[in-house]
Amino acid sequence: ASILHFLADPGEQGDASAWAHFPDGALFIQSGRVQKCGDWRTVLEALPTLTRDSARYFDYRGKLLMPGFVDTHVHYPQLRVMGSWGRQLLDWLNDYTFPAEKSLADIEVARKTASFFLDRLLAHGTTTASVFATVHPHSVDVFFEEAQKRNLRMLCGKVMMDRNCPPDLRDTAEDSLRDGHALIERWHGKGRLGYSVTPRFAPTSTSGQLQAAAELFRSRPGMHLQSHLSENHGEMAWVRELFPDCRDYLDVYESHGLVGRGAIYGHGIHLSPAEMARLAESETAIAFCPTSNLFLGSGFCAHADLMRAGVSLGLATDVGGGSSLSMLRTMAAAYEVGQAGGQTLSAWRAWYMATLGAARALALDEHIGSFLPGREADFVVLDPQAIPELAYRTGFAESLEEQLFALMMLGDDRCIAATHIMGERVWQSGTHRSDPLAA
Ligand code: GUN
Ligand code: FE
Repeated sequence: ASILHFLADPGEQGDASAWAHFPDGALFIQSGRVQKCGDWRTVLEALPTLTRDSARYFDYRGKLLMPGFVDTHVHYPQLRVMGSWGRQLLDWLNDYTFPAEKSLADIEVARKTASFFLDRLLAHGTTTASVFATVHPHSVDVFFEEAQKRNLRMLCGKVMMDRNCPPDLRDTAEDSLRDGHALIERWHGKGRLGYSVTPRFAPTSTSGQLQAAAELFRSRPGMHLQSHLSENHGEMAWVRELFPDCRDYLDVYESHGLVGRGAIYGHGIHLSPAEMARLAESETAIAFCPTSNLFLGSGFCAHADLMRAGVSLGLATDVGGGSSLSMLRTMAAAYEVGQAGGQTLSAWRAWYMATLGAARALALDEHIGSFLPGREADFVVLDPQAIPELAYRTGFAESLEEQLFALMMLGDDRCIAATHIMGERVWQSGTHRSDPLAA
């Protein structure tokens, strides 16, 4: 296969030392981890004869092999509200999202939703995600159980929400602290699973609950945290009203101890230069959700400005606000938003933000995101030929950069030929029930 992985941020122009590409490459995997990635002849010749003879081979000639996609912000309970017409954030939450989240009060609905969601991620080549559950603690349990069955590296957390929401989705600061500790005890660091403390966003938590979130975030080393920041003007006005003493939206989270490495905030559209600088300084990441930002009419995220300020940025679908689980579709939207908003996005940077950059934004890059020796062998096999319009381009604009750009602009889940987790093939095009073309 043609193998590509990133070692660093390629920048706006595409710094060639930031990636490694092997046009005729091989990936040698042992016990689910990358041992060696390189030109296939070099990799094979380095193997002891015994290993070479007993190894299992997957032949992906003509295809592009990359580290699995990482979705840095997505809500599994919102699958069924994808594509709900005509609302901006706050009305959309009330009219569609909260009812969908209520349906997960039934643990069997929650389990089915989690199971379907994870299968759909794999069908889209996404191997890791940072996932919002609902306010129900069991919504996290069933999610992690389903992730564990599939041996996936996943982050998830119970939504904390103690005001400004329907009564049956409301917890209290005390409940969420107790449930959070129990869930962390049960799941954090179990195999490939990590807990992410999940206060929904400033308007739905009291100051007391945000303090509880900080206590959970600090309760273990390597803890994660996820929420939303500066997505919509109505939301921002509401935050100013609810937290009049804070100098800006980010300060609500800062003053409660909710920033730092491992913390990631969805959207970050309407941020001041000062807020960007403070995010960079505290190593707090932003999940860039271009399809959602367009779909909910939230605005254009200044992704190039954020990166230039030194903020760690990962791509995200934000389903159900987002309109596709596909990271390829998300890359295309990121580019188009950049074109509309004067923010340059090279093909290199887009692919980085969907793989290693996203892993870094989630503080998971020691485990995933590249093919360095020892990394977990989660990868996606892409087949550009599966898209007729891409196949028809053959012969035109064929530098690697041009091919990557065309693939992200025209590609979708049709070109996910296979998805592997810890070396094992868990999804293959045309052979699964979730593929409508399969029998
Ligand atoms: N802000 C608070 N909750 C949500 C949510 O579920 N989706 C989006 N896009 N923004 C939010
Ligand atoms: Fe979101």
